[in-house]
Amino acid sequence: MGRFDGKVALLTGVASGIGRATALRLSSEGASVFGLDIDAEGLADVTTAIESESGVISTRVTDVRSVQECRDAVDDCVSEMGSIDILGNIAGIAWQRHVVDVTEDDWDRMSDINVKGVFFLTQAAIPHILESHGNIVNIASNAGLMGMAYCVPYCSTKGAIVNMTRALAIEYVRDPIRVNAIAPGGTDTSLVANFEMVEDADFSLMQNCVGYRPPAPPEQIAALFAFVASDEAGNIHGSILSADSGLTAA
Ligand SMILES: NC(=O)c1ccc[n+]([C@@H]2O[C@H](COP(=O)([O-])OP(=O)(O)OC[C@H]3O[C@@H](n4cnc5c(N)ncnc54)[C@H](O)[C@@H]3O)[C@@H](O)[C@H]2O)c1
Repeated sequence: MGRFDGKVALLTGVASGIGRATALRLSSEGASVFGLDIDAEGLADVTTAIESESGVISTRVTDVRSVQECRDAVDDCVSEMGSIDILGNIAGIAWQRHVVDVTEDDWDRMSDINVKGVFFLTQAAIPHILESHGNIVNIASNAGLMGMAYCVPYCSTKGAIVNMTRALAIEYVRDPIRVNAIAPGGTDTSLVANFEMVEDADFSLMQNCVGYRPPAPPEQIAALFAFVASDEAGNIHGSILSADSGLTAA
């Protein structure tokens, strides 16, 4: 018996990194995955990986910035797979800029992906999660719990996810659903490998977010996601769970 036998997980960002690792992990424990991403090639790749292990996955190229695409994805998930038991809001972007260099387009793109997409996908999915007595796991960040130089927009969006999670948890505290967030620290994904840094960064300002240990494999975040999303975590509600090798302990 897998912890997610008969369950449907609607996950964003499954083409890469933490989302891909989470799709593989939940599938390995019996979940049917409905995976969203803008990266069609990555979606095809995760589909092959899951199907080669006899798992069940369906994907949609979806830009979470579009409210209509989020609503369509929820409708498609329910009509194709029958329910939504787990919603994982995982897709996100990150970069550094000096505050004075952030354009309106930069700000809108980051907040639309990291915050607006999470809100409207959640809004569309909640009636189905109430029906299935399911749960929501948002991927926040250590950046939502601390200040990081040159990351004002990213920290703002991840702080929003932290408090969106808490506010949702309180609004639905009398209902049989759970809402939580994971706040990873440095994780070994393409987001870190391709991280766009400011060229003239003052590294002495960045010591608080460099950390003391190497980046974690995304599978470790996926393992925590699987626990939080499972019935074993029945009283974990409204929690922000750090998985950051001590980064925010200081
Ligand atoms: N890697 C880290 O160190 C780290 C640390 C803390 C938090 N996080 C968070 O973890 C989450 C996953 O990041 P990751 O490290 O796996 O990065 P990643 O770049 O490997 O994966 C992010 C995925 O999101 C998808 N995506 C981007 N824009 C999208 C859009 N508009 N619509 C749909 N999908 C879109 C990308 O195509 C990609 O597949 C993000 O929310 C990120 O902020 C990552």
